[in-house]
Amino acid sequence: MSLSLPLHSPLPLSSHPPIFTLFTLPPINLRRHHHHHHHHRYLTTTTTRGSVIQYNTTQQQPLLQVNDLKAKIVENGVEILHGVNLTVNQGEVHAIMGKNGSGKSTFAKVLVGHPDYEVTGGSVMFKGENLLEMEPEGRSLAGLFMSFQSPVAIPGVSNDEFLVMAYNARRRKLGLPELGPLECFSYLMEKLQLVNMKPDFLNRNVNEGFSGGERKRNEILQLAVLGADLAILDEIDSGLDVDALRDVANAVNKILTPKNSLLMITHYRRLLNLLKPTHVHVMEKGKIARTGDISLVAVIEDVGYETVPALT
Ligand SMILES: Nc1ncnc2c1ncn2[C@@H]1O[C@H](COP(=O)(O)OP(=O)(O)OP(=O)(O)O)[C@@H](O)[C@H]1O
Ligand SMILES: [Mg+2]
Repeated sequence: MSLSLPLHSPLPLSSHPPIFTLFTLPPINLRRHHHHHHHHRYLTTTTTRGSVIQYNTTQQQPLLQVNDLKAKIVENGVEILHGVNLTVNQGEVHAIMGKNGSGKSTFAKVLVGHPDYEVTGGSVMFKGENLLEMEPEGRSLAGLFMSFQSPVAIPGVSNDEFLVMAYNARRRKLGLPELGPLECFSYLMEKLQLVNMKPDFLNRNVNEGFSGGERKRNEILQLAVLGADLAILDEIDSGLDVDALRDVANAVNKILTPKNSLLMITHYRRLLNLLKPTHVHVMEKGKIARTGDISLVAVIEDVGYETVPALT
């Protein structure tokens, strides 16, 4: 069997034999803790000049630190990202909004190492390592998951085969024994329930003939099965009916823990109300032009992007 998967599948395969790329964290489905459950401890030091420096001893480094990231399209050399700055800590939920064509998807794809783009400046640290030096596969292994705006079908591979191979490869990587068929089945059923999908989903080829909404749900199923330290969801809400949107949001909320983080790209308030971002950013012409909390969403809806005051 020779498989050639699109990069943006969260589990791209090389050719022969198929090698899955995976995520570092085993799936976790604890409920997300609220902020008062975080116990930040601080150490303070008084400098010779009398000012107090505060050290946060529980969070040594951000999960993701993007510094002045610039990237161009390989094909035509056009620069799309003009210096993106973003810091995501463990347990945070970030939303990126912004006009069509402002560079949101490009940013997400550059983070996972999509070959259509070339980084021309800046840096990206993920869990203390230089993300930009890693192959796309290595980024997945390091705990980065991305659900694409338009998930692509994988003809000839059934959903359960895909998930079982991927999850077992993941377990091997972690030094855990592979799950047998029965254990796999019950594990997948548990995750199906989480995303409220019917079991017959598992027998179908990955994304083949899936409706738009089913594809989106399937992406969340993959995330639930594989887990991630940082999940990037690009317009996971587009094309979902109200029930599907609620299911997807519930599933994502169950996957979130104080240890992992979410970066979601969306145009709509409904998803934001369900996933409650801790930070809301507005991307404009390839940069984060404005950052705020969820109240920024109402401002954008009222006055539009044009008149939202730029970052000072
Ligand atoms: N592979 C590519 N080839 C050519 N142009 C591209 C490519 N990728 C992105 N672009 C261009 O870069 C710009 C930013 O695109 P991007 O998909 O990042 O926007 P977006 O903010 O996600 O928009 P939307 O809200 O419509 O999804 C657009 O003008 C787009 O046409
Ligand atoms: Mg987009």
